[in-house]
This record gives sequence, structure tokens and C-alpha cells, in this order.
Amino acid sequence: MDKFVIRGRKKPLRGEVYISGAKNAAVAILPAALLLDGPCKIENIPDISDVRLLKDIIANLGADIEQDGKNVVGINPQNVNSWEASYDTVKYMRASYYLLGALLGKFKKAEVALPGGCDFGFRPIDQHIKGFEALGAKVSIEHGIVKMAADKLIGTQIYLDVVSVGATINLMLAAVKAEGTTIIENAAKEPYVVDVASFLNAMGANIKGAGTDVIKIKGVDILSGGASYSIIPDIMEAGTFMIAAAASGGDVMIKNVIPKHVESLTAKLIEMNIKVVEGEDWVRVIGNGPILKANIKTLPYPGFPTDLHPPVTVLLCLAEGTSTITEGVWDLRFQYVDELKRMGARIKVEGRMGLIEGACSLSGAPVKATDLRGGAAVVIAGLVADGVTEVYNVKYIDRGYEEFDVKLKGLGADIVRMSE
Ligand code: EPU
Repeated sequence: MDKFVIRGRKKPLRGEVYISGAKNAAVAILPAALLLDGPCKIENIPDISDVRLLKDIIANLGADIEQDGKNVVGINPQNVNSWEASYDTVKYMRASYYLLGALLGKFKKAEVALPGGCDFGFRPIDQHIKGFEALGAKVSIEHGIVKMAADKLIGTQIYLDVVSVGATINLMLAAVKAEGTTIIENAAKEPYVVDVASFLNAMGANIKGAGTDVIKIKGVDILSGGASYSIIPDIMEAGTFMIAAAASGGDVMIKNVIPKHVESLTAKLIEMNIKVVEGEDWVRVIGNGPILKANIKTLPYPGFPTDLHPPVTVLLCLAEGTSTITEGVWDLRFQYVDELKRMGARIKVEGRMGLIEGACSLSGAPVKATDLRGGAAVVIAGLVADGVTEVYNVKYIDRGYEEFDVKLKGLGADIVRMSE
């Protein structure tokens, strides 16, 4: 296993960084490709371990996969003949739940092992299952495997009790070839939902309203494929680099970004006295003297993203005064806090709120990535800390950031990847 060794406080990050395709869109679009009746090409696909795993999983189901360079993949699902994914194949991949909707939509049956708990706790899929049942599937969970079968999938109205990215996308996948019209209400509005709908529409689907809280899916018989689709830039990777630039007091041009997707972060950075300049497909972040305290609450899109909660907390540690971060999505998101405390952060967690005493002088220490975003947080802390930080469990970071260390090095960071 690898670790990062970071020598902090060398110099502010400066230069340009290019953002990869969105992980959370890619891990849904790959299974969505199984629904097609012809081949497709997916561009701007991030080269991260979650995507590599998922490509192996869909190849095991019979899909022909042709890699064209690092970030383009051709998929021909015409030979897919299995609707089963065992625990062995999916155990490392939380987002393997998208195989449920895709295989149910394709074969009217699916047997997929339940994804295990993720790095920050149990993640329920009751809303996914409620929707599959509403479409006509019989669902049972036997020996850890979700088994679903339907004579027919028939469009219906589904109201989600919680706003869920995963359930919204999974139900679109199951409904895209169902008979009649499916309406998902209280749908998630994340750009990944829009991206999956745009991918399916480019391949012949009829989905309207993605990006609002009501999505209408008119079932089609055939999804002919035959098109190329380019995945949107990764919002969390862009946000992580924006925060790293601000924390280091640097000046970084972040390219391949949709500025609207990061506007909740941009607004907070400006409130904290960080200069942010936006262009059509870039943002430039300039550390601008003292960082001001802020109160942040994470919420579903377009609110402040939960996935930027751990990284932004590092910035709050450096701000003047006491800040708060309130977690509105995941109960167990605060696990990274103990690692930051080992570096000298003064954070008190009460329920879903973290109270952060600012003006902190962080010092390098051996720490671990508790999960993907907790990992990004300790790396940013290492960049601004005094001395050497060793970050263990880098595999979590590799799940979702393409060449994180290489990109940071390109901005002047002193970070080296080594074997543990
Ligand atoms: N929820 C339920 N029942 C369900 C589904 C969700 O109660 O059936 C609850 C969850 O427990 C949570 C909330 O609803 O409290 C939101 O969960 P959601 O379903 O939106 O999360 P997800 O689809 O499993 C995606 C991202 C996460 C991101 C969340 C929230 C992917 C693969 N993952 O997860 O990303 O935190 O949305 O925005 O898209 C990450 O990238 O680091 C990551 C964890």
C-alpha cells in the first residue's frame, strides 16, 4: 500500500491544474451503458480506482470494453448475458448499487450483492428498493444478495422520502426502458443526475426534468447507442483544489470546471476573504491575506456539498475566530477530525456540528485517510503544516482523485508517493 510524504509550508501552491471527469457521474454512466442496444464511447472518464473496478465488473458481465488512452473508453454491451454480480466482484465498490437499476432495466431481473458499509458507515438503499418495487419488481434480500425480478416494469409515480443521488439515478436506470411514464418526485438535483440523464438521452432515452426535483422518464423500447458522450468535470476535485489553493495562500488556475457547479464553495471562499475569479470553464483562486471565519452547513445540491466538508474544515482551522461546520447529509462524516487533531487542529464535535477554533498552527504528523474526502483533508493539512506529514491509507484517495499527488506536485507542492 502507498503513503504520501508531504513537506509542508514550503511555498504557496501556484500554477494551473486540469480537473478530471466526475467520479460520481462515471460510476453511474458505466452501468448505464449496459442498458444500450449498441456500442457507445465515453470520454473524459477519470482514471481512478473506483472506475477501474467498475470497468472490470461490467467486463465480467460480458461487456466488451476498449480503452482508448487513459480517459476514453468504448463499451459494447451487446454480449452482456449475466444479471448477477457476486460479493467478490462488488465488495470494494459502494457505487456498485447502480448495477441493480441497470440490470433490472435491461433483463427485468438482477442479483447483486449488497454493497458493504462504506468508510463512513452504513449507507441505506431503502429508497432505491421502494422505487424498484413501485415499478413492478419483486425484491428480496437473501444471504446478502439483493434479488429482483419483474414480469414487466411499468412506469409509475415515485416520491422519494429522502433526497438521494443514488436512488434518483438508480430509478432512472430501471425506468428508462419501462412501459409508460415514470415520475420521480423529490429527486436529487446534483449535476451527476443531469449527466446520467444527458448520457441516456444521447443514446435514445426520453428523460425530462433532470436537475429539478421532478424527473419524467418516458420508457423507450430501444436505446440504440452509437454516440460519444463526454462526462462533466469533477466538482469535488475542483473544489478540493480551490480549497488547497486558498489554504496555502496561493494562486491557482483550475481548468475544466463548470463554475456554476462550485458556486456554493465560491460564495463561501469569497465570504472568507479569498479572491475567486471565474471564466467560462475555469476558476482562479487567490489567497488574499487573512482568512475570515465562516459557518457552513452541508446540504444536497445546490447547497454546500458534504463531500467538501472535510477539506473545507482545514481552511476553517486557519481562519481567524471560531467557525462551525454542520453536516446535513452523513451521520458519520466527522471521522477525519481525530486525524486533524493529531496535527494540532482544535475541533469539537457535538452531534452533527463541528466547532472549529481558528488561527491554528498545524504541525506535520503521521495520519491516515479515513475515507476519500477525509484523505483529501489531511493532505491539504499536510501542505500547510509545519514539518513532515505522512498520509497512510492512500488507497482511499486513489478511489476518487486522479493523480492527486502528481497534480499537487505540478503546483509546487512537496509531496512524494512511497510504498508503506
Ligand atoms: N439515504 C437513505 N435511503 C436511501 C438512500 C439514501 O436514507 O435509500 C440517505 C443516506 O443515508 C444519506 C442521504 O440519504 O443520509 C443522501 O444519500 P445519497 O443516496 O444521496 O448518497 P449516495 O448516492 O449513496 C452520493 C455520492 C457521495 C455523496 C452523496 C451525497 C456517489 C457514488 N456517491 O452517494 O459521494 O456524499 O451522494 O451527495 O455518487 C464521495 O464522492 O466521497 C461520496 C461519498
